[in-house]
Amino acid sequence: MSKETGKNPSRKLWGGRFSETTDREVERFTESLSFDRELWRYDIRGSRAHAAMLARIGLLSPEEEKLIQEGFARIEKEIESGEFPFREEFEDIHMNIERRLYELIGTPAQKIHTARSRNDQVALDLRLYVLDRAREMASLLGDLVRVALRKARENRNRILPGYTHLQQAQPLSGSYYFVAHAERFLRDRLRFLDVVRRTDRSPLGSGALAGTTLPIDRISVAQELGFSGITGNGLDSVSDRDFIADFLHASVLVSVHLSGWAEEWILWSTREFGFVRIPDRYMTGSSMMPQKKNPDVLELIRGKTGRVLGDYVGIVTLLKGLPMSYNRDLQEDKKHLFDAAETVRQSVSILTRLVAESSLVEERIRQALSGSELLATDMAEDLVRWGVPFREAHSIIGRIVAYAEQSGKSLASLSDQDLGLFSPHFPKDYAGTLTMEGSIARRNHAGGPAPERVDERILEIEHELGLPD
Ligand code: ARG
Repeated sequence: MSKETGKNPSRKLWGGRFSETTDREVERFTESLSFDRELWRYDIRGSRAHAAMLARIGLLSPEEEKLIQEGFARIEKEIESGEFPFREEFEDIHMNIERRLYELIGTPAQKIHTARSRNDQVALDLRLYVLDRAREMASLLGDLVRVALRKARENRNRILPGYTHLQQAQPLSGSYYFVAHAERFLRDRLRFLDVVRRTDRSPLGSGALAGTTLPIDRISVAQELGFSGITGNGLDSVSDRDFIADFLHASVLVSVHLSGWAEEWILWSTREFGFVRIPDRYMTGSSMMPQKKNPDVLELIRGKTGRVLGDYVGIVTLLKGLPMSYNRDLQEDKKHLFDAAETVRQSVSILTRLVAESSLVEERIRQALSGSELLATDMAEDLVRWGVPFREAHSIIGRIVAYAEQSGKSLASLSDQDLGLFSPHFPKDYAGTLTMEGSIARRNHAGGPAPERVDERILEIEHELGLPD
């Protein structure tokens, strides 16, 4: 700090041993302020707790600590009101804030970095950020699950064609369908809560890599910041970004799940399917074709999945092959983290609203179900009940399906005589007993689509969501 000592031409907080100022292009290349300013709240929170600890162990006088806390309070206000002088020459958010503290309160500010390095400082800020974001995601996913359960209740007795390979397979209850989506997001929610559990350790006190000779009290700072504990090895702590990779992995899976639902409903909202009605406020038009209504929201949810996966690949590629411990490569972690966190937050939030406000179109679904062969498996299973080995039953029903197709009849309209051509086991008026409702109701084992079974599962999920995280 040339003004104070006359000996530091570089003007940097770390410039004591430097004999010239940093090259401008190097400054621009190495700065992280343009993106790590997102961490400012966490940085100040961490520094305030650190200052309180330094005062407790006698390295700051009560007066110095008071000035420091007041200085940070002013900086908070300045940043909130947009008056804070962000300066690229001070490289990152940490040094911008420390420099500003010095301008505001003078000499006591020179003690705030006692027993601390930017390496443990940034590790702390990132953990605090990930904790907030992971908790927020768990809560948003809880909302999405609740909406899916509400839809499940609303559509409890509706019959939907179930698909494999996008070909009609077996009939489903509406509640079974919506709970299937809920299950995915319920697992995602747990994944974020696991991220919280693993991130919940304070790295502060790791110093640059080998701690400090000063008598710090790591546990009290950790407690003040709301952590459940402290990390166990400083060398690891300044380089550990596993919690970011964990967060991104959880984000990738949410995105994958979102993209699947989005794709399904993009298809279901076409004229060809017409199964789902999405309100106009979630659709957009074409600049050329006046008749168009496009499901852009769903398409973007699907498309953004690529970005989140890119962020995940970016972070693990960044971490690969890094020697212990802190390396400047790590500065690049933030872009991936912030981008993925914001993308999944927005996507979950908007899909939750879109699902809540859309409805299934009874008439189109009924049309799609009519004349279908969705009950063929039920017929084969009936033959099994009457003693026919499943493989043989499968083949008999296969031939019946082909026969019905050739003679232009639906399975449910086959006569006893028709059926008798293929097996002596069918009882009188058998075809008339085949209904979609009956098919679903009979699948009433645990995890099956019978509405009363699905009701039980809904209660279990609600119970899980009601439990404290
Ligand atoms: N801006 C840096 C980052 O985000 C802070 C840590 C810098 N540490 C250092 N030794 N240069 O990684």
